[in-house]
Amino acid sequence: MTDFIKQHNLHLRGKKTRLRPFTEADIHIARRWNQDAEVLYYADSNEVTGYTLEDVKDIYHSMSQQGYLFIIEAEDGKPIGEVCLQWINIERANVKPGEKVMRVPIMIGEKSYWEKGYGKDVVSTLMRYAFLELKIDRFCAMGVASFNERALGMFSSLGLWEVRRLKGTVKRGTAEFDEVDLEITREEFMRKQTSCATPSGKEV
Ligand SMILES: CC(C)(COP(=O)(O)OP(=O)(O)OC[C@H]1O[C@@H](n2cnc3c(N)ncnc32)[C@H](O)[C@@H]1OP(=O)(O)O)[C@@H](O)C(=O)NCCC(=O)NCCS
Repeated sequence: MTDFIKQHNLHLRGKKTRLRPFTEADIHIARRWNQDAEVLYYADSNEVTGYTLEDVKDIYHSMSQQGYLFIIEAEDGKPIGEVCLQWINIERANVKPGEKVMRVPIMIGEKSYWEKGYGKDVVSTLMRYAFLELKIDRFCAMGVASFNERALGMFSSLGLWEVRRLKGTVKRGTAEFDEVDLEITREEFMRKQTSCATPSGKEV
């Protein structure tokens, strides 16, 4: 498969991360993350311990068609994961005609970077871009496994709240867990922005 990643030219910068377009040259590092059973345990709704190179190309081909696919870089330029700012095409999100709704599948593949604020920095950068530049109406996280406390903690610390729960749809061994959907609306995001601003209008 050639030209399997749809390109864009968007570069974004957070407080401790940089987001740059995911290119075909990144597929081998992304494959390494997609062969790590512990990363997939949290990132994938299916019970899977590793993907082949062809699977990985298909996954990123499909993601890149639906929005902006990025490599996440830490302060020193090291690639630590990937994220996609994606238009929603899932029926259960109830997108009304004319409504602009996005989601953010995210995977920090370098586990030593977990729980150090990188994920939150990435998602808050993308939320700001989506609400302030793309003028979206709702920003969602879809299908978070109910055991994924790190992801649930991160999304709720950014003001997303649970709007839907699919009972027992995530299987791990003989255990069954729920899938949780969270979101924040444009009004809620703007209210939070105002309450976090100083009188001069600067964010604190
Ligand atoms: C989920 C993921 C993106 C989170 O990113 P991260 O960098 O590990 O998380 P952060 O350090 O940015 O999280 C920051 C916030 O989440 C909260 N948080 C982090 N870990 C938590 C935990 N284990 N339990 C509860 N809250 C937690 C923190 O308290 C913090 O909130 P605060 O600023 O209000 O204190 C990352 O761990 C990851 O990619 N994991 C593997 C794949 C995955 O789970 N993807 C998501 C699938 S939906």
